[in-house]
Amino acid sequence: MNTKRVLVAMAVVAWSCASALGAQKNGEVWHDTAGHVVNAHGGGVLAHKGKFYLYGEHKVYGKAGNKAHVGVHMYSSDDLENWKDEGIALKVEEKTGHDIEDGCILERPKVLFCEKTGKFVMFFHLELKGQGYGAARVGIAVADKPQGPYKFLRSLRPNAKDWPMNVPESERNEDTKSKFMSAERPWGGRGSLWGKFFDGGQMCRDMTLFKDDDGKAWHVFASEDNSTLHIAELTEDYLDYTGRWWRMAEKDWTEAPAICKKDGWYYLIGSGCTGWKPNAARSYRARAITGPWEKLGNPCKGVNPANNLGPELTWGGQSNFILKKGDNEYIAMFDIWHPENQVDSRLVWLPVTFGADGTISIEWK
Ligand code: GAL
Repeated sequence: MNTKRVLVAMAVVAWSCASALGAQKNGEVWHDTAGHVVNAHGGGVLAHKGKFYLYGEHKVYGKAGNKAHVGVHMYSSDDLENWKDEGIALKVEEKTGHDIEDGCILERPKVLFCEKTGKFVMFFHLELKGQGYGAARVGIAVADKPQGPYKFLRSLRPNAKDWPMNVPESERNEDTKSKFMSAERPWGGRGSLWGKFFDGGQMCRDMTLFKDDDGKAWHVFASEDNSTLHIAELTEDYLDYTGRWWRMAEKDWTEAPAICKKDGWYYLIGSGCTGWKPNAARSYRARAITGPWEKLGNPCKGVNPANNLGPELTWGGQSNFILKKGDNEYIAMFDIWHPENQVDSRLVWLPVTFGADGTISIEWK
């Protein structure tokens, strides 16, 4: 047995003690319809033709789970409760030097359906094998069916040689770029950096996809060493960038972006920048996805009784997606990470409440 098989087998043995099917409980182990542990993290849900498709990082047992050894796991459901295992939608590759080689870091996969082409398009955060978190790329894959198999197309750093739309035409010069080469992190080191990556393309780490009512798709990602979010418009086939992109939440150090739209407001929730360790969530809203974005407070409320953690540490979790289930039904999704054994990371799905004052809140249940 090769190492990968051993890791997968250990994960299955350790976590396949099936409990009775039924309600999935926040922060507890979730089981699929076959009684195995649901293994899909940092991902999102695609609602398509009356069904739901959950995509997420397949984690293996132990610290090895911090790297990708299997791929993107997919489950389907009619009710968001009973999840059927549909297998690995995008597999890592054995070939040495492949962008998604076994042992790379493949995080936060999201899938959109493109009406124009009839294809399912997957974006994810990709770190090339052996480079830690230095590569900061996006990976793109495509499939004919929601289940896949997804064909890996390419990885890249987006928006090379394209100016942020927030910079007026009259200021698009070397002097402006030079101001965005090495701003300080609050705790030292690099920060606001798009100027530095103008030629080679912008860094891309934690990310989400958002499809607007007009069918236009947007890629939202932590860039500039995670200091600032970028919102990039995608082409009609969702497979490329138009080159129009905006910066938001400059030097707020917001990761784990998740976005939704309700009654003409765009809302974004995210976490601070403390790696796998939880911190307080934050939220923003805007009338246009391109901004300006107004910073709101921490949307989380209540305490997770399993660990006694409240909003100050997002119940021990980190945001990953907001699903619009119906016109008035939105579900915010979080992961409680266990970097010592990521296969034991826990899912938390909670309804989003929209206040009359235009704020959002998410209460532990
Ligand atoms: C988190 C991020 C995760 C993962 C982790 C690595 O902040 O949200 O997706 O990249 O850092 O430390």
